[in-house]
Amino acid sequence: MISTYVEALGEIDSQLENITFLETLINYGRCFRIMTVYSHPLYYEIAFSFVDAKKQVDLFERFIKKYSKIEVRRFLDIGCGPSLQLREIARRGYEAVGLDLSFEMLEYLKSRAKEEGLKVETAQADMTNFKLREKVDFAFIMMGTISCIESNEKFLRHLDSVADALKSGGLYLIENFRLDWASKDFFGSQSWTMERNGIQVKTTYNIELQNALTQMLKETIKLEVNDHDKQLVFEESGNMKMIFPQELLALVEWNNKFEFIGWFERSRMKKLAKTNRDNLIILRRK
Ligand SMILES: C[S@@+](CC[C@H](N)C(=O)[O-])C[C@H]1O[C@@H](n2cnc3c(N)ncnc32)[C@H](O)[C@@H]1O
Repeated sequence: MISTYVEALGEIDSQLENITFLETLINYGRCFRIMTVYSHPLYYEIAFSFVDAKKQVDLFERFIKKYSKIEVRRFLDIGCGPSLQLREIARRGYEAVGLDLSFEMLEYLKSRAKEEGLKVETAQADMTNFKLREKVDFAFIMMGTISCIESNEKFLRHLDSVADALKSGGLYLIENFRLDWASKDFFGSQSWTMERNGIQVKTTYNIELQNALTQMLKETIKLEVNDHDKQLVFEESGNMKMIFPQELLALVEWNNKFEFIGWFERSRMKKLAKTNRDNLIILRRK
């Protein structure tokens, strides 16, 4: 049975309790943000359809074999979106749980899984404040989604939530943390076009500096869609706080619930020799 596994819905709901005019505007802004690109899962999935989920899950299994202290039966994808990875995980006979703020993403994931006869459970919650009813053995967050966290305080709350959801000895895999802050093409735009079943999606992704003192960055993603006779454009921007590599280590140590296993290349189990946009970080729950 597909069900929702969240006890506490998280800060979106709790913020609504003592609401002020300013908070109303902030919440509206947040909702508006997720009503755009992330409310159109099919176009999002096409935009990122270059991902090879089989290879990624093969790599998860290799990390588990080498670094997990527990047997893995149940996986959690945080900020899962349409999660090609969870569908692959369910195909391999594991239990799969997807957590996301976006209702549309979760509905899309469930219906695509159901079409294949797969079971994927979902939880609509904020990754900086959630509590699952049943613990998982392995958690992961892909595609730089960790950068949606807007402050160190929220990052620590995120680690607390993941620590609460993950069994002792289990791994937390983070893909594409912003380690490449010193590279010359860190700021600026990237653009690519993907096509499926006659639907063409051009994606433009941009990062700019907001404030060097507070380490705030502005991220913008734009999808230009040509869906048969329809031309559609979705765009959204969000602020994020840059967390430098050594700052990350200090935050993990401060949180004190994970061991830092290492930073690795994105596509193989090899420790990074220098910073790279494509990377994996492995933490292990104490
Ligand atoms: C960059 S997409 C990644 C989707 C998918 N994991 C992938 O690799 O393609 C980011 C996802 O995180 C979700 N998201 C953003 N902020 C979130 C938050 N605070 N809590 C939970 N999900 C969030 C969005 O709705 C979106 O589905």
